[in-house]
Amino acid sequence: MDLIEDIVTPFNIQASEKGVDYDKLIAQFGCQKVLPAHIKEIEEITGKKAHHLLRRGIYFAHRDLEMILNTAKMKKPFYLYTGRGPSSAALHLGHMIPFILNKWLQEVFDVPVVIQITDDEKYLYRQELSLEQVKHFSRENIRDIIACGFDLNKTFIFTDTSYINFLYPNFLKMQKHLTVNQIFGCFGFNGSDCVGKIAYPPLQAVPAFSNSFPHIFRNKNDIPCLIPEAIDQDPYFRLTRDIAPKINYLKPAVLHAKFFPALQGLHTKMSASDENTAIYLTDSKKEIERKIKSFAFSGGGKTLQDHREKGANLEVDVPFQYLSFLMEDDERLDEIRQKYGKGEITTGEVKKDLIGLLQKLVEDHKVKKKEVTDELIDKFMEIRELDVKL
Ligand code: TYM
Ligand code: TRP
Repeated sequence: MDLIEDIVTPFNIQASEKGVDYDKLIAQFGCQKVLPAHIKEIEEITGKKAHHLLRRGIYFAHRDLEMILNTAKMKKPFYLYTGRGPSSAALHLGHMIPFILNKWLQEVFDVPVVIQITDDEKYLYRQELSLEQVKHFSRENIRDIIACGFDLNKTFIFTDTSYINFLYPNFLKMQKHLTVNQIFGCFGFNGSDCVGKIAYPPLQAVPAFSNSFPHIFRNKNDIPCLIPEAIDQDPYFRLTRDIAPKINYLKPAVLHAKFFPALQGLHTKMSASDENTAIYLTDSKKEIERKIKSFAFSGGGKTLQDHREKGANLEVDVPFQYLSFLMEDDERLDEIRQKYGKGEITTGEVKKDLIGLLQKLVEDHKVKKKEVTDELIDKFMEIRELDVKL
């Protein structure tokens, strides 16, 4: 069935088989396009070639990115904020997209990162989960996040339940200026949703204010914040930006990614709620091979003859989309684009490349994850000064 309007919320993504119409979404949400000039500026400021997730337009939309780039140009401090809702023990490839970019931005701009683990959110939003379960998931998720290579001296990871006393003053300020109608309008809740669910969104807002972290930024409330994430999280920060000036805080900047698609196609995102749509960082080599071979939606021709004549439709082809998110080698990707698009190579051959690449990424990740000890997790979560220039 073709949908007239895409649905993009923090809870649900539905689009046609071509995927979300991201240009339409920019207009609907009122954000701005990331332009080649922005990428060029990032390269000029950092002296580094832009990350392929930026170069390939996967991070495609923003609010106030110029403000952050101007701050960086003047060598003034800013910080990165991102998060994860611990709804499952294992992360999938889609979750890695924001963490990969945050890690890269931390490195090239030499800035601190704060990472919010919303154990409260998942406890409240998922009927079936107990507080003990989300606490366990939180720790395992933090292990995965640390394995992405964040710098201990510049990264603070916290769960809401453990860090709440520092967040609470700003949470109160947000709550005082936010009406229930605004929350209903923004998130589609109603009066029969539990009160915790309705009260949660301002808690996702407050890490965007620098004085929520006195051990990092002392009492400064004017350190600019950039939030790299996928665009499903935009409603939280539309609200944050709406309220911030009313409580004399800076509006945070955001940088939005497109969705890493489900195995079955671009009509929805890879999601932890359905196991067969996702490749997990815990999947075995065999499991990865099986999932790609049996589920990854192909944009190739129906028959070999058809494929040789018309080539593959790369726009809807899941293996090609995955490669464009994860393959670092531009030349090889371009070769696949050309040859697969013309039908010179088959879906089977492209899948073989993809399987090899995913197996390597996931196996490398497992090795790095093994090195993340319980002590290291505690160190990342310790309330402490970070190595930042204020
Ligand atoms: P969660 O746990 O659903 O997702 C964590 C991050 O991963 C992104 N993401 C994806 N990106 C690309 N493709 C996908 N298929 C995909 N699936 C998930 C999400 O956009 C998100 O950036 N409420 C949040 C937790 C949170 C947060 C934040 C996220 C708290 N503070 C600040 C971003 C920024 C949540 O449940 O995310
Ligand atoms: N090496 C990847 C990059 O920089 C990031 C990464 C680490 C990753 N672990 C992963 C990607 C696991 C996918 C799966 O792009």
